[in-house]
Amino acid sequence: YLEFVRSSSPTGVDNKPKLNRYSTHLTREHDFPGAQAMLFAAGVPDRLAMQTAPHVGIASVWWEGNPCNMHLLDLAKEVKKAVQSRDMLAWQYNTVGVSDAITMGNQGMRFSLQTREIIADSIETVTCAEAHDANITIPGCDKNMPGCIMGMARHNRPSLMIYGGTIDKGYSKTLRRPINVATCYEAFGAYTYNTLRQPDDGGDTSKTKDEIMEDLERNACPGAGACGGMYTANTMATAIESMGLSLPGSSSTPATSPAKMRECAKAAEAIKTCLELDITPKKLITKRSFENALVITMALGGSTNAVLHFLAMAVTAGVELTLDDFQRVSDKIPFIADLAPSGKYAMADLYEIGGIPSVQKFLIAAGLLDGDIPTVTGKTLAENVASWPSLPADQVIIKSLESPIKKSGHIQILKGNFAPAGAVAKITGKEGLKFVGKARTFDKEVQLNEALNRGEIPAGENLVLIVRYEGPKGGPGMPEQLKASAAIMGAKLTNVALVTDGRYSGASHGFIVGHVTPEAAVGGPIALVEDGDEITIDAETNSISMAVSDEELEKRRQKWTPPRMVVTRGVLAKYAALVSDASHGAVTDLF
Ligand code: FES
Repeated sequence: YLEFVRSSSPTGVDNKPKLNRYSTHLTREHDFPGAQAMLFAAGVPDRLAMQTAPHVGIASVWWEGNPCNMHLLDLAKEVKKAVQSRDMLAWQYNTVGVSDAITMGNQGMRFSLQTREIIADSIETVTCAEAHDANITIPGCDKNMPGCIMGMARHNRPSLMIYGGTIDKGYSKTLRRPINVATCYEAFGAYTYNTLRQPDDGGDTSKTKDEIMEDLERNACPGAGACGGMYTANTMATAIESMGLSLPGSSSTPATSPAKMRECAKAAEAIKTCLELDITPKKLITKRSFENALVITMALGGSTNAVLHFLAMAVTAGVELTLDDFQRVSDKIPFIADLAPSGKYAMADLYEIGGIPSVQKFLIAAGLLDGDIPTVTGKTLAENVASWPSLPADQVIIKSLESPIKKSGHIQILKGNFAPAGAVAKITGKEGLKFVGKARTFDKEVQLNEALNRGEIPAGENLVLIVRYEGPKGGPGMPEQLKASAAIMGAKLTNVALVTDGRYSGASHGFIVGHVTPEAAVGGPIALVEDGDEITIDAETNSISMAVSDEELEKRRQKWTPPRMVVTRGVLAKYAALVSDASHGAVTDLF
């Protein structure tokens, strides 16, 4: 590992970088007395600290009103105390974020993805403007994690991430089983199609559907923490830990556990190590560490949103990662985790049997995960997890590699005349590997939701429900469509596949294809589909195609006119003007 540091550090370990090498421009001698006066006022205790202590920015994505984020200020305060106790200056600040679950299915969801850019912009801005020497980020909800890593890659100063942690499981007395927020979305479909029932196993079945909904809404989220299955937040946190950018256990330690507070205290020691060894984000964000991110995402059945976020992180860090890398890794990595949304268990259950470090240890031993990558502890990933317990022999969450849930990964990259620049499907195998159906098109998700509300999607013939003009530019903001996919699962409409140029939530499952590129708003083929066209989705040949000839498509293209931009001012207008396509991560700084 030291070899790595020597070869990659501009100064090397024998000639350590000054720990305050950015802030020293403001704090040395009396070059900037005004700046120093402000810093004394803000809390620098004395002249020695002013001239020698590194400045560590602590960026939490805290706000009230969302369980994923509501506790992050408390974590940040713990980090601040620990940083100060190690003779460093700690400066807390905040970035905005939004709740994916709260905005889901309404107009607010358009604002979600672009918060990833705002978070990255905020962290880059404060770190560079305030001359911070290091950065600790504390994200919680979905877009927070990639936003933090992108911010860290942009300023490239010693950094680490503390994940806010997963939520505990909820429990429904009426359904008599553990529940989570996704249960509520799925129940909406059953509620609409009048199939929401208490289990008929000898218990009390007297509750009305409204009483059952009330019970679910009251009990799905028992406190602080991000959505508890292998949804986007836990997927991103797991991948980032497997890239070496957070402390061991960060992604599986529950938000309310005392171990999460201990992690905050340990972060101070790690950030000092990063400063001393000049371990900067771009030394950790490499093609090799992305390989680990892809492996663990496939093994654990992570969210399709990981594709978009990994591409964005890679573009930001200058690492060449393409959709083909996802397919290559998906082809070789078995899907082995019985975790929600497609499985039974939650991250809190995985924590009980050792958590992500135990899974990493298992995958390193199997030769699937690269244990030699460097990490923010100053040690390799394998060294970090060496003292962690192995997965218990009698555990049931992580299957053996010999008897996986599926022999290859669940994320499939599809291409074809429907999506020439790619689309992302999540295929666990439970729903089959091929789907052929007639197209039914919806311009905007709201139209599909209204059709579902009216119970208009028939359970008879195979249908491919296409939601378009919901891409990065068209949405704008590439909104997630959990509401429709969950309602369809809840209503047990197994005869439909969902296809969109927008995204699906990490909590979605079923036969779903998102991120169709080029998107409808720029005239991609998805804009030219007509109701009744035959669509084939084939996970074995990695293709998505429509039975429409090139000549016919060309005729339709001649008649197509670009949609009028619905948003012309404000943050979404800026986003729509700047954003790249989904196959390049939907970032706003790629020109
Ligand atoms: Fe925040 Fe699900 S809404 S992680």
